[in-house]
Amino acid sequence: MDWGIKNRLSQIIKPETGHTVMLAVDHGYFLGPTTKLENARQTIDPLLPYADALMLTRGILRTSVDPEASVPVVLRVSGGTSIIGRDLANEEITTSMEEAVRLNAAAVALSIFVGTDYEHQTLTNLASLVDKGQEYGIPILAVTAVGKELGKRDFRFISLSCRIAAELGASFVKTYYCDDFEKVVESCPVPVVIAGGPKLETELDAMKLAHDAVQKGATGVDMGRNIWQSPHPIAMIKAIRAVVHESKPPEEALEVFNQNK
Ligand code: R5P
Repeated sequence: MDWGIKNRLSQIIKPETGHTVMLAVDHGYFLGPTTKLENARQTIDPLLPYADALMLTRGILRTSVDPEASVPVVLRVSGGTSIIGRDLANEEITTSMEEAVRLNAAAVALSIFVGTDYEHQTLTNLASLVDKGQEYGIPILAVTAVGKELGKRDFRFISLSCRIAAELGASFVKTYYCDDFEKVVESCPVPVVIAGGPKLETELDAMKLAHDAVQKGATGVDMGRNIWQSPHPIAMIKAIRAVVHESKPPEEALEVFNQNK
């Protein structure tokens, strides 16, 4: 692997544990002012010390994160659709690699929509982004989109999407937890991180999700709503860190949560 790509990836995936707790706050790129992210700075600021990386768009980075912050940035560079539009999957690259360099991104992220009318477009966009990333030494995170109109969150769909992303050159992949998740990881030759998805009923449920994923080979999480929609986001991210970096079982992570809330 190119030195620059390896160096940037090791800013995100901590070499001490081989794992990562990325904080996802990019939701507004198609959801607008998501609950608890209406004032992004207010939500992000207190969590920064506990995030191994911050996933967001350039707009929120520039307006809502101090440039002095030392957290590595995973810059979302795809979009162009909204939750109320007709074709959610019709994403294009919205931010250039030069802009990512200007913003000192540690990686750039793009969604792929396997199984939709926009499969070809989003996959070839991924391939082009990988070429650009190689030029600049910037790793690419492929985000495998799921949704009602897309593939289900099952092993066959998730493993298909992850493997294709890796084949096209993604340095790491973000996807969803599913049954037989260990087979997804086994058949994907690059690190896999999981999204949390919509807020689960309890904090313990989210800890279990992270725990199961890591036990089955995930490199970590790129979690958003289950952290910052919790009434105690700092306690929650600390608990998720205990699961991901220290392999704490969910029940012990819940103690961490309770001690910090
Ligand atoms: C994915 O494409 C979204 O933009 C979020 O980054 C992702 O869903 C992770 O956040 P959450 O844990 O809230 O699902």
